[in-house]
Amino acid sequence: MLDPGRIMQRCDALARHSELPGGLTRVFLSREARAATDLVLGWMREAGMEAKLDAIGNAQARYEGARAGLPCLMMGSHLDTVRDAGKYDGMLGVITAIECVQALNAAGKRLPFAIEIVGFGDEEGVRFGTTLLGSRAVAGIFDQGTLHAKDASGKSMREALVEFGLDPNRISALARKKQDVVAYAELHIEQGPVLEAEGLAVGVVTAINGFSRLRATLRGVAGHAGTVPMKLRRDALTAAAECVLAVERIAKGHPDVVGTVGRIEVKPGAINVIPGEVGFTVDVRAPQDELRTRSVASIRAEIESVCKKRDVRGEIETLQEFGSTACSPWLMDQMENAVKRQGLPVRRLPSGAGHDGMALRAITDICMLFVRCKGGISHSPLESITEADAAAGAKVLFDFIEHFRLPA
Ligand code: GLV
Ligand code: MN
Ligand code: MN
Repeated sequence: MLDPGRIMQRCDALARHSELPGGLTRVFLSREARAATDLVLGWMREAGMEAKLDAIGNAQARYEGARAGLPCLMMGSHLDTVRDAGKYDGMLGVITAIECVQALNAAGKRLPFAIEIVGFGDEEGVRFGTTLLGSRAVAGIFDQGTLHAKDASGKSMREALVEFGLDPNRISALARKKQDVVAYAELHIEQGPVLEAEGLAVGVVTAINGFSRLRATLRGVAGHAGTVPMKLRRDALTAAAECVLAVERIAKGHPDVVGTVGRIEVKPGAINVIPGEVGFTVDVRAPQDELRTRSVASIRAEIESVCKKRDVRGEIETLQEFGSTACSPWLMDQMENAVKRQGLPVRRLPSGAGHDGMALRAITDICMLFVRCKGGISHSPLESITEADAAAGAKVLFDFIEHFRLPA
């Protein structure tokens, strides 16, 4: 029997593992991540699964099918969070998948395929600036170069892995073979307002928008805030301010593009010093890759032109890019049938947010089920869902699993 109350309690329990007092921040390979992952591994085992921590810090578990060694239906989501996060982004997908297996196991049911669940250690990319680290390792597209990426304290990912008790040399062995994974299905909160506006508890995802992440560094000349006349200044922050507005203007130029400057650092950062150096990030997303790359090219050109005009030196690096990822029609149809069998209206919608399925698509077909969240708010402590919607999502996912058929 599915227990939606337990799903909600487990989301609450994971949220207690946080570095932020009174809120939720849990980044990749942190002490808090270790505690949350151990909790999840325990729940996986309680659900009748073989579970282990893998070499990149994912919680991985397997529930054998009618006989041992069958290819698997993989499910899951991520266990890391953004800073000052909500408790459902990522975690709900992992916990609901475990709940479904627990119900199967309690009924003594084995299916013509195995089920694997992964609680990915990193999807948000908060600590090292690159995203989808856990799912890329499983999909065999982990870039070994990212082991040298450093966190804000200067610690490399390689060092953080070792400190966590993991062996970075074993990451490449996590890559799964295409023939071993029949499909990947992820339940996730919508993180947008569409389902709520239409009075729907769940929706079937059609595709995940692609993204580009850039980092720009502008270098002007620091100086005394009291002595340097305005016309002689080369202020890196006023230049950056123009660039931030340019990102907004370019993104607003097309209804399908979104662009965000989410982080900015000013050096030296004092009230009486003209800013000499500014670093800022740019996040651009769009459903069509061509539209996104065109927007990114315009943003780059605009930053360069602002720098030229203001006589500051500009450097722009691409941190990461991922193309838009389609969900597979045969899986969307099966998810949609599960929604109908549960007596719910069918709604298909795209995802503006990134998800682990983007990486998994390298080895298998993917699909997603969205669950309504309050006000469409996510990446915020105000993130909220109802137990009734958690129940609806779990019922649909369970129905999908029970009726899951391999493609003809
Ligand atoms: C992950 O949540 C992202 O879309 O940035
Ligand atoms: Mn997120
Ligand atoms: Mn997420």
